[in-house]
Amino acid sequence: MLKVFIPKERREDETRVAATPETVKKMVKDGFAVTLEEGAGVRAHFSDEAFAEVGAMIVKGDSEAWNQADVVLKVNPPIENDLLGGHEADALKAGSLFIGFVAPFQSPESLKRLRDRKISTVSMELIPRITRAQNMDALSSQASIAGYKSVLIVAERLDKYFPMLMTAAGTIQATKLVIMGAGVAGLQAVATARRLGAIVEVSDIRPAVKEEVESLGGRFIDLPELESGEGEGGYARQVTPEFLRKQQAIVREHVIHADAVITTALVPGKRAPRLVTAEMVQAMRPGAVILDMAVAQGGNCELSREGKDIVAHGVTIVGNPNIPATMPRDASLVYSRNLYNFMKQFVSPEALSLDLEDDIVSGALLIHQGQVRNERVAAFLDSSPEEVKS
Ligand code: NAI
Repeated sequence: MLKVFIPKERREDETRVAATPETVKKMVKDGFAVTLEEGAGVRAHFSDEAFAEVGAMIVKGDSEAWNQADVVLKVNPPIENDLLGGHEADALKAGSLFIGFVAPFQSPESLKRLRDRKISTVSMELIPRITRAQNMDALSSQASIAGYKSVLIVAERLDKYFPMLMTAAGTIQATKLVIMGAGVAGLQAVATARRLGAIVEVSDIRPAVKEEVESLGGRFIDLPELESGEGEGGYARQVTPEFLRKQQAIVREHVIHADAVITTALVPGKRAPRLVTAEMVQAMRPGAVILDMAVAQGGNCELSREGKDIVAHGVTIVGNPNIPATMPRDASLVYSRNLYNFMKQFVSPEALSLDLEDDIVSGALLIHQGQVRNERVAAFLDSSPEEVKS
């Protein structure tokens, strides 16, 4: 019987947990022995008792718990852990399976440790965006939460109403919101902002999203002279500096007249495109709000700072790199279901053996038997200067 372990997340701004009583109940029923570090669900408001009731064994998250596990489910990449007095990757049993977000292009040290420890590593970022894998698509489940919540954060920080109102004291103009990037997060932000009555304008370099934006009631900012920004697998490709300059000039006219801007533009494996310059921020009105969802990938706004809210030229710039963690209950519910759906399909409770012929496993299994299987990530690790500290 395979042992599944769910540790407590130790990143300071993390409130989510990789399993909930709902998914633990299912894993126990499927035949896994589930252990959970005490307090692992507390910040997402799932008590140890609720987990114990459905069959989890509550344990201290010491090295024994890590070393005995066949499968470890986590939200964030392995990190230094005070209770272990060392790194989580080093506490894992060789040949065991780690499933979670591993930030393939942002956490070289933890990936090198996983590789060197021969930990089979499923990167939730690399689950293919195909129909069959939709219920395992954690990037989408979390981006959707981030898109929704970003609008509420902006509405709360803004100095005005979102909807247009006809009041006894006269008319109030609706908030003008510009959204950059119409992927999963951006589209959810469009839908949420429209429900609150804002006028929403959207920029993206993939022309295919224009129709989706318009069907949600947003206005698409056309980039007439620009070629398609569609790249591999439906993702955006990195644009040339010249392309970016032209795009900035077009978008500038919308940004400087906006009350608020939400940026979500990402290109997998690359630095986020810089779409809102310091000059644009300066040209916005005092009291405007920018939320930069790409802040952890280098930022779409020149002035945003990861983990900080700053005020520049009277404009508030929100740089929260982990918005899903501000909605830990639902974020954990959907994330844990994504993990469970992967487990249900690919991990047998009897023995650890993954079907490398399957497209989903093959795409998401980043490390196996000491090898980094994804060429781009392998090249990134080779070029990364960070050394594994022993
Ligand atoms: P993402 O988080 O990688 O990027 C967000 C958005 O930023 C994208 O729409 C991208 O085009 C845009 N962007 C990049 N550079 C930009 C620039 N210079 N200016 C403006 N916008 C820029 O994207 P996400 O949300 O992960 O979605 C990627 C694709 O995958 C989308 O086409 C989405 O519809 C598709 N998808 C497909 C699924 C499926 O199962 N078939 C599931 C989920 C997503």
